Amino acid sequence: MTRRDFINSTSASYASLLAWGMLPSAPASAMNLPANGRTSEGKGRKVVILGAGLAGMATAYELGKLGYDCTVLEARSRSGGRVWTIRGGTKETEMNGGTDQTCRFEDGLYFNGGAARIPHHHQLTLQYCRELNVPLEIFNGNNEAAYLYNDGGTGDFANRRLRIKEYHNDMRGYTSELLAKALDQSALDQQLTKEDIEKLVDFLKNEGDLNTNHLYKGTNRRGYKAKNEPGAGTAPGEVTDPYGLTDLLRSGFMQPVFYNVGDYIYEQQTTLMQPVGGMDAIPRAFEKKLTGKILFNAPVTELRKTENGVRVVYQKGGKPQELTAEFCVCTLPLPMLKNLESDLSGTVKRAADFVPYIKTGKIGLQFKRRFWEEDDWIYGGISRTNMDINQIWYPSFGFQGKKGVLIGYYNFYSRAEAIGAMPVAEREKLALTQGSKIHPQYPSEFENSFSLAWHRVPYSGGGWATYDDATRRKYYPALLEPDDNIYFAGEHTTYLTAWMAGALTSARRAVEAIHARVGEYTKK
Ligand code: ALA
Repeated sequence: MTRRDFINSTSASYASLLAWGMLPSAPASAMNLPANGRTSEGKGRKVVILGAGLAGMATAYELGKLGYDCTVLEARSRSGGRVWTIRGGTKETEMNGGTDQTCRFEDGLYFNGGAARIPHHHQLTLQYCRELNVPLEIFNGNNEAAYLYNDGGTGDFANRRLRIKEYHNDMRGYTSELLAKALDQSALDQQLTKEDIEKLVDFLKNEGDLNTNHLYKGTNRRGYKAKNEPGAGTAPGEVTDPYGLTDLLRSGFMQPVFYNVGDYIYEQQTTLMQPVGGMDAIPRAFEKKLTGKILFNAPVTELRKTENGVRVVYQKGGKPQELTAEFCVCTLPLPMLKNLESDLSGTVKRAADFVPYIKTGKIGLQFKRRFWEEDDWIYGGISRTNMDINQIWYPSFGFQGKKGVLIGYYNFYSRAEAIGAMPVAEREKLALTQGSKIHPQYPSEFENSFSLAWHRVPYSGGGWATYDDATRRKYYPALLEPDDNIYFAGEHTTYLTAWMAGALTSARRAVEAIHARVGEYTKK
């Protein structure tokens, strides 16, 4: 008799089994539940959870700790939803006539098709990695050695690549010089004391690497001439010359697509992390904690309210099946919820209809050789361009290995829509043609690719929810309240849209709400 059989065949409760030492206690909690202070109240209460992405699995995991009897219905044959690592053997066929793709990457090579980085301040995500023993490594988002490429512009900087470090340090230098000049000429004397001005000039000297006359004359921060790095003996290295300020201002690099997000934006500041071996290590770790609780290949077709709870119809082996429960936690992305037959209230249905989801896509390109490391000295990070490919991501793992997979485009909105509408062979061609302008090594080193357009990926139907002030006001509140016994979770029910942190924190919120409600019932 297995332990599971034993538990199933006795009337012993989870709590008493725990007390007798027959079940391992829940590991150190990521969430410090419960809200109602009585862990046993969840015992045996049935909850059906729609979707085995991070929101659904974290909900099942935490409710499980409290003794609830959870079943997770998952349409796909895998868990993780938009947390999806593409490696050799991965298969996908997109909606609306997509071609079948089977990934041909070599063993050990992969890219994260969806979630791909964890900010250091997403502590709940990091806490789950700790609790579930998911080892992490650095995700290098910001690499000054990567390139900027302004396609189709005019002037000196059009149609050529330059290193991000050259642009950044020249702009820091010149803007610092200009401000230092203004200060030297007393232009800001009204606003600052003499002492403060001296301090500010000290700051500018450091910020822009200005000389003693407060002038920017270039700096080794922007790098050395290729064959003249510092070396032994009589080789001090030859610093590169700065570009001209006017040329830079007319370069086109002030377009938002080139913006220095890696330094400035809260979510993209160092340190970022990723699981060793692929982002799907996180869903796989949750899945291990939910053995037997997830029904795969079970797409939900109806969500009904009953007198005492909910009734869910799903397909299994081509036949409709039913499940009833006291509560439902629905984590379906809104583009999927929109098409579900349900008794959901009008306000929820309107949210599903009108909250927009971003169109976004990625392509992984396998190359015979890691030329970006060998030839260009780029280890991780992102090159940026105004071409349709938008961004090239270099892998932050497997450095100095033989082959490698980089992300040949990561784009959004109309660019993603246009590329996503192409057959996969055309997407590959476009990624190679545009990418070769930045990396001429592409054609001779390329081996194979795998691409995805999230708005065409079955059971996702979009990248992530994109609210503006109006849609937040109008539609968001409906997703925060239970609709009778149906609760909602997923990144779209948070202010952390587009992040795993959103999925996880929404799970916490749903679990707390259900558990508090159950506590109220049992008090009466
Ligand atoms: N969170 C998503 C990203 O990191 C948007 O690209």
